[in-house]
Amino acid sequence: MLFELEAVLEFSGDIGSKKSEIEEVLSNTDKGLFKKGAPKGKEGEASQLKEWSIEGNKLKVKIVSGRYVRAPDALLRLRNQLNLLGAKIKVGIRKIEIKKLEVKGVELGREPKEPVKIAFYVDKIELKGDKADIIFGPSLTVDVIEGGGVDRVIELVIEKAGRQEYEGKAEIKKLLREGKQRKMFTDKDPSVELEKMKWIRRTHSKGQFVYGRNFTSLVNALRDIMIENLYKPLGFMEMIFPKFEPWDVPKKSGHAKSIYPDAYYVMVPKVSSPKEWEDVMDYFRITGEIHRESIMKKVEPVGILSYAQCPPFWQFLEGKILRADTSLPLKVYDWSGPTYRNEAGGTHGIARVEEFHRAETLFIGSPEQVKKMAEEVEEKLTFIFDELLELETKKYSVVPWWMAQEGEKKLSDNEVEGVGTVDFEAYLPYRGERAKSEWLEIQNISIIGDKYPKAFSVKSSKGELWSGCAGGSFERWICAFLAQKGFERDKWPNEIKRRVKLVNELNEAKFTNAEDEIEFA
Ligand code: SER
Ligand code: ZN
Repeated sequence: MLFELEAVLEFSGDIGSKKSEIEEVLSNTDKGLFKKGAPKGKEGEASQLKEWSIEGNKLKVKIVSGRYVRAPDALLRLRNQLNLLGAKIKVGIRKIEIKKLEVKGVELGREPKEPVKIAFYVDKIELKGDKADIIFGPSLTVDVIEGGGVDRVIELVIEKAGRQEYEGKAEIKKLLREGKQRKMFTDKDPSVELEKMKWIRRTHSKGQFVYGRNFTSLVNALRDIMIENLYKPLGFMEMIFPKFEPWDVPKKSGHAKSIYPDAYYVMVPKVSSPKEWEDVMDYFRITGEIHRESIMKKVEPVGILSYAQCPPFWQFLEGKILRADTSLPLKVYDWSGPTYRNEAGGTHGIARVEEFHRAETLFIGSPEQVKKMAEEVEEKLTFIFDELLELETKKYSVVPWWMAQEGEKKLSDNEVEGVGTVDFEAYLPYRGERAKSEWLEIQNISIIGDKYPKAFSVKSSKGELWSGCAGGSFERWICAFLAQKGFERDKWPNEIKRRVKLVNELNEAKFTNAEDEIEFA
């Protein structure tokens, strides 16, 4: 890898008369300044000042390097040194302009099939077999260099070239366990039936439903089953996680790398005085419509609606050290509200919704504690799905959810022992034969390792801190349950049957809508 950089350092005054002092600093670059930190014997691959000239208040430099003390870093060292000199010669650096930065021969590890593009700071990426030359553009600033931006651009180019390999390929998953084959009681799509029976009704929003009383009773039955058979015996307690994530959360969780096409955005007014909003108000009064364009000018995006549910929890522990003896392991669950996804691939009844009600289970502790808790949670969930709900499921090891959500489709090369995600999938007879149809993911359990503690600066007072989580939604549990068991309550497993109360059984007045006389459930 070769770096070629040209920059103009602009001083606060003429430096023609200070040439000898400046020259002394520049002549030092070859001795120490540009070589310090390079491994012994590799000093030749460190930066070298190729050319320089002075004109008025400007110093022009050309720096080249190999992989050690790269040219952009050498420029920062030179700037600092000249600033120190500034005190003596009474002129300081006012501005630095990067005239050229080219990184040649970046090894990609494979020959990309398509061009690789980067939207910021880069003019062009020239591919030469399995190598790339990156030509930075005029928007590159010293601040970006100082923030490590050049290295990140190089990493991103390599990552994008690598991603082309497995883009479009099916998700890699490994079968871990095949549950018992069960008798199926229907081959109908429960979402269609639920709508017909008025147990649920679509709203004006894509992938969102109002859930009626019967359906909610089913939800609560599942909730009670989970509390009695999973949370209570394992000592989990309930918490309430926020459902709005300020940008800091996706920045730390890594979702900010790729969440944009899948997120619901949260906007707030830039100015909240009613006067500022008068045009939008007037427009609605006159036309009965919403003036979106005008609204967009007056709001700014402050974050997203919760997507994965557990990331905003970490703000609770952020920056803290947990006392290992008294606070760990920490076992909590959150069932306090929905999370949101913009499902580009379309929604489908309650099998794929955009407003998604998940029971999020979260555990934190030493690596041993987290591994043990994941095992216990998995065991209890297996018992619930198999023995209590009598569902036909399969268990797979899959690409971890956080990697998938950060745009990664394959397991990482630097996998940590024990870290990963297990999915439960349920058979949906309405989608076709067992072997040929797509099953529904109804639950995941993960050991996440130190990712979240690191991202949110949370430590243990003793040893490493790990976390894990598990997620399942009542929409999908119920979808799987009704798809397999049907709607005849007598055929339902006792655990559910005994807990569900239906409206007509309660002998409650059925309420009707005057206009189209429908009985709601
Ligand atoms: N947070 C995990 C997910 O998004 C588990 O719920 O899938
Ligand atoms: Zn989670």
